[in-house]
Amino acid sequence: MCGITGYIGERDAYPIVINGLKRLEYRGYDSAGIMMYDGEKMNLSKTKGKVSDLELITTNNEKKRIGKIGIGHTRWATHGVPNDSNSHPHFSQSGDLVIVHNGIIENYDTIKKELISRGYKFQSDTDTEVLVNLIEEVKKNEGCKLGKAVQLALTNVIGAYAIAVFDKTKPNELVVARLGSPIAIGVGKNNEEFFIASDASPFIEYTKDALYLEDGELAIIKKGRGIKVRQIDNDKPIDPKIQELKLSLDQIEKGGYDHFMLKEIYEQPKAITDTYRGRMLADQGIIRMAGVDDNISKFLNADRIIIIACGTSWHAGLVGEYLLEDMARIPVEVEYASEFRYRNPIITPKDVVIAISQSGETADTLAAIKLAKSKGAFVFGVCNVVGSSIARETHAGAYTHAGPEIGVASTKAFTTQITLLTLISLKLAQEKGTLSKTAVNTYLQTMQQIPNQVEKLLKIDPLVQEIASVYKDATNCLYLGRGFNFPVALEGALKLKEISYIHAEGYPAAEMKHGPIALIDENMPVFVIATRKGHYEKVVSNIQEIKSRSGKIIAIVTEGDETVKEIADHVIEIPETEEALTPLLTTIPFQLLSYHIAVMLNKNVDQPRNLAKSVTVE
Ligand code: AGP
Repeated sequence: MCGITGYIGERDAYPIVINGLKRLEYRGYDSAGIMMYDGEKMNLSKTKGKVSDLELITTNNEKKRIGKIGIGHTRWATHGVPNDSNSHPHFSQSGDLVIVHNGIIENYDTIKKELISRGYKFQSDTDTEVLVNLIEEVKKNEGCKLGKAVQLALTNVIGAYAIAVFDKTKPNELVVARLGSPIAIGVGKNNEEFFIASDASPFIEYTKDALYLEDGELAIIKKGRGIKVRQIDNDKPIDPKIQELKLSLDQIEKGGYDHFMLKEIYEQPKAITDTYRGRMLADQGIIRMAGVDDNISKFLNADRIIIIACGTSWHAGLVGEYLLEDMARIPVEVEYASEFRYRNPIITPKDVVIAISQSGETADTLAAIKLAKSKGAFVFGVCNVVGSSIARETHAGAYTHAGPEIGVASTKAFTTQITLLTLISLKLAQEKGTLSKTAVNTYLQTMQQIPNQVEKLLKIDPLVQEIASVYKDATNCLYLGRGFNFPVALEGALKLKEISYIHAEGYPAAEMKHGPIALIDENMPVFVIATRKGHYEKVVSNIQEIKSRSGKIIAIVTEGDETVKEIADHVIEIPETEEALTPLLTTIPFQLLSYHIAVMLNKNVDQPRNLAKSVTVE
């Protein structure tokens, strides 16, 4: 996600803002920018690349560093590829206003068309530049001050935002607003200076007094005067709640969590929401993804879909196979990219290839894409990093809006990949008529419940910690699942292996009889997914087979299940949902379990030994 930071006060703003950007680098980004107001002019420097690249521009140009007011931005691209012109800050057409933004404006296209019809011209492809010109247009038409113009403009905006806006004609104030993305305001002594940022890490060394805006709130910050907070939707004034910060810098960067992995597990409700946001209107049964819509005939006329990926992304691809075949009735094959690229596969121009990659830089996946393209196949990418190599190599694609995933063990990438694959499957089923309108609408409405269900499910954390403490010293573990949850069994085993270094294997539950059951004894913990609709009776008999051989059973069941509770040693209940959507829920306990076991074993959770976040070598 993007990072915002800014300063207004009596000190030189440049070192405060540029160091603030460095403090926000942990959030992941692809470009950086800063605006410095020197008392007359707003001097803008911005570039694709790192904060150090930005410093190269400003270091050689004193003018770009002068001023006591500045705002800066690190961009994690969502609309518009990473390049200099798409970097923030963005000026309004008149050059009076400047904005930085973290979030996604869903209806920016409609607003942009209206502004163009009123004579506005745009320098970038971003939703952010649309927003600053909407504010300018409102300010001009209403003849109002910046704070009021921002408030009115935001009532016309659909999406998520954290913004900071400056008007050079009123240089003693900054306006900030938030909906869905965080904004913190650092308060200096006697209101002589204020700091703004996406979190407190850029200003915690200057002040411990901070105000965190709530969703739907806007603040007008006046140097020497103070802060006025208002409701965006009705302009009602709110008493600013200033608190004294207790967090350390390291804790702030991890959002108060002990590790990035845990933070990212807990970010999944937002990541899933952000991934389907703007792509489905559940009540109208509308699904729209430009990359799919613009190439729908290729998907519908395909002989088959080949999914290529590695690791966790491969597991998401396996869920995708079950979804696409069950919903859209299109033949699907799932291939490890590293095998596919070397085994001389049969690929024809009638094949559609879906390449899945969080980083968008995995060498084997990239090579497999190039092979498929060389044989004439249409290649569609599912990536989390805008402008990554795989995103640029594929013919079309869709981004998971999970935000940067820092922990090496992939968590929110997995659930957002499945979210996208579900939408693609439903879209193709809708186009082919293999699912009724009612069935598609039911799935979409059920999907809309998932983020809240994940939020609720995360409350099992203490129970999972208890289970982790019982099995943390196991030397081998088995993970079992059937149907849509067979890939989740594989994913659960991978999570445990890669961060706790305990050997674990995932299996289709029915495969137990074909060998693995020989491993079962009192020292073998078996984690079984036994949700109510997924071949439930058969899984229960698998559990009984294990129990009769003294195996330890930890079962993931649907809320209210009393049967498995009688047999298993531990039970984790998940909310009821459509069976096809259960992987979005059943994976959560396994993520938490591997995390807590690794912590109890004092492993390096975020950077496990021998592993890299992105395997760019073959
Ligand atoms: C998953 O937890 C691992 N970090 C690893 O298997 C990862 O999923 C794999 O390397 C693929 O990475 P990608 O999604 O960035 O292509």
